[in-house]
Amino acid sequence: MAEGYERVELHTERLTLRPFELDDVDDTFAFASDPVWAKYLPIRPNWPQPFTRRDAEEFVARQVLTNWETTPMFAIVFGATVVGWIKLNVDRQHEIASVSYALGKDHWGKGLVPEAATALMDWGFTELGLARMYAGAEGGNTQSQRVMEKAGMSREAVLRSHHIGREGRVDQVLFGILRQEWEEKRRRR
Ligand SMILES: CC(C)(COP(=O)(O)OP(=O)(O)OC[C@H]1O[C@@H](n2cnc3c(N)ncnc32)[C@H](O)[C@@H]1OP(=O)(O)O)[C@@H](O)C(=O)NCCC(=O)NCCS
Repeated sequence: MAEGYERVELHTERLTLRPFELDDVDDTFAFASDPVWAKYLPIRPNWPQPFTRRDAEEFVARQVLTNWETTPMFAIVFGATVVGWIKLNVDRQHEIASVSYALGKDHWGKGLVPEAATALMDWGFTELGLARMYAGAEGGNTQSQRVMEKAGMSREAVLRSHHIGREGRVDQVLFGILRQEWEEKRRRR
């Protein structure tokens, strides 16, 4: 498996994906202090509601200290502003990673997260040598499921009553893509 341990910056047509910096607290507070935005995100450890400036400081500090080998976490920069985040949880033993993401509500509907996810998946398959990537969303989070489809993943499973969401027990829908499928899709881009 390739190394890929060093912190990197990725570029897409409209976005820069880079490691979080301590100066990102204000931008993070701006997009995360919104209960609609947080509806499908786990309360712990990062997204309590109400979300305070102190919560933003703690979140950014955790990301600056993140273990890049297992949890490469990128700030999504659009223009000069951090508008969200996207990350991998890497299992190097099995050469797989899960993808998760969130974008501030002001920027929904512009296709920014599929663009970021495509770049992140390209990096994971080429630089980390992954064999499979996958992502999950609550059953009600059709926006996120659409992102996975647009990024080239296939719907694989529904785990019924999988966990406790903000409003009670919820299903988890899983999407995934194998290296061979990603190579095929990349040839057709
Ligand atoms: C889910 C999320 C990442 C989508 O990112 P995005 O960059 O807006 O994605 P897209 O622009 O490709 O839109 C995806 C779908 O969302 C829907 N959508 C777009 N704008 C919307 C809006 N303003 N309100 C509600 N739904 C909207 C559309 O169905 C769209 O699909 P389409 O392009 O086929 O029409 C973003 O909504 C988000 O961060 N939500 C809050 C956090 C979250 O749920 N994270 C995922 C946890 S699993």
